[in-house]
Amino acid sequence: MTGEIVLPDAAGLARAAELLRAGSVVAFPTETVYGLGAHAFSEQAVAEIYRLKNRPSWNPLIVHVPTVAEARKLAAEWPGTADELADRFWPGPLTLVVRRAADLGGVGAANDTIAIRVPAHDVALRLLEAAGLPLAAPSANRSESLSPTTAEHVVRSLPDVPLVLDGGACRWGIESTVLDVTGATPRLLRPGALSLRAIREVTGRVALPSEAVLDGSARPSPGMSKRHYAPRARLVLVDEIINPDKSAGLLSVDERPDAEVLGDDPEEYAADLYAALHRLDDLGVATIIVQKPPATEDWLAVHDRLNRAAAR
Ligand code: TXA
Ligand code: MG
Repeated sequence: MTGEIVLPDAAGLARAAELLRAGSVVAFPTETVYGLGAHAFSEQAVAEIYRLKNRPSWNPLIVHVPTVAEARKLAAEWPGTADELADRFWPGPLTLVVRRAADLGGVGAANDTIAIRVPAHDVALRLLEAAGLPLAAPSANRSESLSPTTAEHVVRSLPDVPLVLDGGACRWGIESTVLDVTGATPRLLRPGALSLRAIREVTGRVALPSEAVLDGSARPSPGMSKRHYAPRARLVLVDEIINPDKSAGLLSVDERPDAEVLGDDPEEYAADLYAALHRLDDLGVATIIVQKPPATEDWLAVHDRLNRAAAR
């Protein structure tokens, strides 16, 4: 049987751990989005993630571990900045890119760096403990499409996934922030749930991707392709929604009766963004018109996702 959604009780976790140890994949909740997990250092298990997602082989995966100590084992170098950031934000929605320990195999074997995080979700942490394996886990959706924030989203996008642990809706609703700490100045590779403001409180400076990267026309980290996080419908960004086509789905910051309204708080907006796009897609509309949120740094991750969703 495939696409089975189970509760993350002792029996559900035991089944999931058994599948993972056997080299299969399992979808599980994290505080950001649902992940499609597999033993990070099994070539065969990792290959199954790429196959199910139809993910291009050049796009490396994030490895999830339960503790900082486990993270350090995967790194050839663990800079002081990584320690400070991990101390402050792990478990949490921050992924650190560090130099990769030699001879790991599996995820990103061709790279000299590795992306690691400790997720802040009870089910994810219990699963990591039960499986006793570092888990590679990209978002549990077909490559380029909307990320899943519920177990149902996972099954709709990946009907062939053997098992999904149901942890309800994800708290942050948007992927982790990816930060490269291999150089003298930490470098933002993907804006995400953890704000730059919070990171700067620990590191001082953060090097930002260029405008071209943020609007999707250039790529800082392999996964940052121009089109990504996209609904089935064509997504169009506008400054104001004025006399929209009656057949279009609408996503608005401002209150209006004919639209999905996500409001003007960037964290609340992000938390419901993918779910709102899933709902609009479910209406079967050909076009989704999205009112651009404010152009301030607090909205960086939301703009990044909307721009990529709108790219063609
Ligand atoms: O919130 C998240 O990060 C979710 C949950 C499941 O943890 N995972 C997630 O994974 O978003 P994924 O595979 O959809 O995105 C991973 C991102 C990609 O942009 C990828 O290119 C980047 O991390 N990445 C992975 N390894 C890297 C590396 N060694 N160097 C630079 N970027 C890397
Ligand atoms: Mg993804």
